[in-house]
Amino acid sequence: MSKEYNKANPAKTVKVTFKESKPGEKEYQVTVPAGSTILQAAIAAGVHLQSACGGKGTCGKCRVILEEKDRRGTLPEESKYLNSEQIAKGTVLACKRTVESDLTVFLIEQKDAYDRKTELEAEHDYDLSPLIQKHVLQVDIPNTQDQRSDWERLTAKLPAIKKPFNFNRSIAAKLPQILRAASYQVTGVTAGNELLAVEPGDTRNSSYGLAIDIGTTTVVVYLLNLINGKIMARRALTNPQQGAGADVLSRISYVTENPAGLTQLQSQVIEALNQMIADICREKGINPEHIYHAVAVGNTTMSHLFLGIDPTYLAPAPFVPCFRQAVTVKAAELGLKILDNGLVTVLPLVAGYVGSDTVGVMLAGKVDELQGIHLLVDIGTNGEMVLVGKGRILTCSTAAGPAFEGAGIKFGMRAAEGAIERVRINKDVELEVIGQDKGKIRGICGSGLIDAVAQMYKAGIITAEGRMPNSLSNLAKLPPSLRRRVLNNNGYREFVLAWKEQSATGENITITQKDIRALQLAKGAVLAGIRILMKRLGVKIEDIDQIHLAGAFGNYINKESALTIGLLPQVSPSKIKSIGNAAGNGAQMALLSTVEMAKATFLAQKAEHIELSAEKDFQDEFLNALALEQNY
Ligand code: FES
Repeated sequence: MSKEYNKANPAKTVKVTFKESKPGEKEYQVTVPAGSTILQAAIAAGVHLQSACGGKGTCGKCRVILEEKDRRGTLPEESKYLNSEQIAKGTVLACKRTVESDLTVFLIEQKDAYDRKTELEAEHDYDLSPLIQKHVLQVDIPNTQDQRSDWERLTAKLPAIKKPFNFNRSIAAKLPQILRAASYQVTGVTAGNELLAVEPGDTRNSSYGLAIDIGTTTVVVYLLNLINGKIMARRALTNPQQGAGADVLSRISYVTENPAGLTQLQSQVIEALNQMIADICREKGINPEHIYHAVAVGNTTMSHLFLGIDPTYLAPAPFVPCFRQAVTVKAAELGLKILDNGLVTVLPLVAGYVGSDTVGVMLAGKVDELQGIHLLVDIGTNGEMVLVGKGRILTCSTAAGPAFEGAGIKFGMRAAEGAIERVRINKDVELEVIGQDKGKIRGICGSGLIDAVAQMYKAGIITAEGRMPNSLSNLAKLPPSLRRRVLNNNGYREFVLAWKEQSATGENITITQKDIRALQLAKGAVLAGIRILMKRLGVKIEDIDQIHLAGAFGNYINKESALTIGLLPQVSPSKIKSIGNAAGNGAQMALLSTVEMAKATFLAQKAEHIELSAEKDFQDEFLNALALEQNY
C-alpha cells in the first residue's frame, strides 16, 4: 500500500465522496493527494472498509462500487476475488484503484462487529482498593494569623502520605475560586501523591474508571464505579485501524512506510474510545470529568500505537518493544476525553508478542494461585499461550494468522450478524447463524470455521491431512445431500455450507481447500507453541489439570471441534473451560485494586518468554501439528 501511497501527487488534490448504498444514509467526504488509493482515502475519511491484507490486494475484502461513468473494466487482481455479477455492478477493490480526479464511491453494507456480549460480571473476589481516592475536606479559612497558601491549607487536610503532593498548576489555577465559592468545603481526588482534581462540595458518590481492552479487531470499554466496583456499562467497536490491515504486522508496516501513519492510527483508536466514552456518559448521565482513571490492555503493538510509540522494531527479529513496564500518562496527553488530569495506565507487557492483554489474562486467571499444571490460551490474530506449573510461568506467542477471526478465508468474516457460527453435519448440513432472524447468511466466522472443518472431517469429506479428494468417486460413501455440496471450482474443490438462495451475497458460501489449509497453518502454529512450552516445563498431556480458553473466541469455540481439528492437546473436554474476556477482566481488576495492579507487574516480570522462532524444534513440531488427527 505504501508503494501506491508514494505514487500520490501531493501537488494535486482530489475529492473523494463515500456514500452508503441505502438512499438517505450518511456521506463522507475527504480531500487526498491525487494518486492515493480509494482505501487510503477511506482511512483518511474515517470510513471503515474491511481490508484484512492491509491493502496488499490479497484478501479481496475492500470492495466498493463505482458510478457507471467511472468504471474502466476489471483489473486481473480483482477478477480473482469478484464474480461476474459483482463486476457488472461496478465492484472494485479499493486498495487497487487510485484516484486521479474527484470520485464518488458507494460502500457495500458491512455490518460492524456484532457485540456477542457476555453478561457484565459484577462480582469480584479481591479487595476493592482503587488507586483513585476521594476525600471530603473542610479546609481552614485563612485569616491574619493563618496565612498559609491555598495549596498548603488544602493539602494539609489530605491524608498524610510519604511524599508531599506534587504541585499541579492546572488545579492551582482554579483553586482560589473553587475554595471560596464552596465555602472551603471541597472534595479532593488523589492517586498516590498526585492530586487530580478539587471539586466543590461532597462528590464522593461520583467516582468512575474505565477498563479498556484494545484488540486488533475490536476495542472494548467498560465503565466501572470505583466506589462499589460494579460494572455500569460496556461498549465495543471495531478497531478503526482495520483500514491499515487486519493483523499487527500490517499495521506496523503501515506506520513504518507512511510518515503520518503513527499519528493516524493512534488518533483512530483514541477517537473510537472517545465515541464510546461519550455514548456511555450520555446514557448513564455521568460527567466525563468524574472518570479519573483508565486502565488499558492490548497486545504489544496495540499498546505502542495507543501511546503513540513507534512499533517499527517489533516486526523484525529480535522483536524488541520500546517499553515493558506499566506506563501511566495523563489523559490529556493522549486526548482521551475523561478528566484532563485523569490517569491512563497501560499494564506491563512480557515481550514483543506477549502483551499486556496476556498479563490481563494471567491476572484474571489468578495464575499465582493455581495449583498443578494449567494452560491458558488466548486466540485471536495472534495466539498467546501461558503454561503455569512447578513454580514457573512460561509464555509464547505464535502468528496464528487471522484465520481464527475469519480473515484470509474466502467467505470469512468477523463474528457479526449473518456469520455462520456453528456447523453440524449429519445427513445434511445444519447451520447456526448470528442474528439469523434478521436476514441472510453473509459468511463464516472463526468458531464456525473450526466447526465446519471438524464436521467435514468427521463426515469423511476431508482426510486427516485436511484434503478434499479430487475425485468424486472417493466421496461415494457420502449421502447424496452431502455429495452434491462438493463442487469443482476451476479445478479446486469447495464444500457448500449455504446455497446462494440463503446467502446475502447471491453466491454459494463455501469452504475451500485453501481455507482448510489456512486453518491448519493457524492451528498448527498454536499447537506447536503449546508443545514447546510443555517440553520446556517438562510436562505431558496427562499432567495438564486444566486448559483455560480466554477471549471472545474462547467463549464461542466448540471444545469438541477444537479437539477434533487438533487445535489443543488431546485432553478430556471436561478439562477445558472458557474464562471469558479475561484480558478485559484483568484490566478491571487492576483498575479496582492496587494489589492487583502491583501483581500485574510481578507476573509480567516472573513470566519466562520462549521465543519460538529461536527454538530449534519448533519447525518439526509445527509440521507434526498440521494434520487434523492428533494423537498426543
Ligand atoms: S484486497 Fe484490498 S485490502 Fe485486501
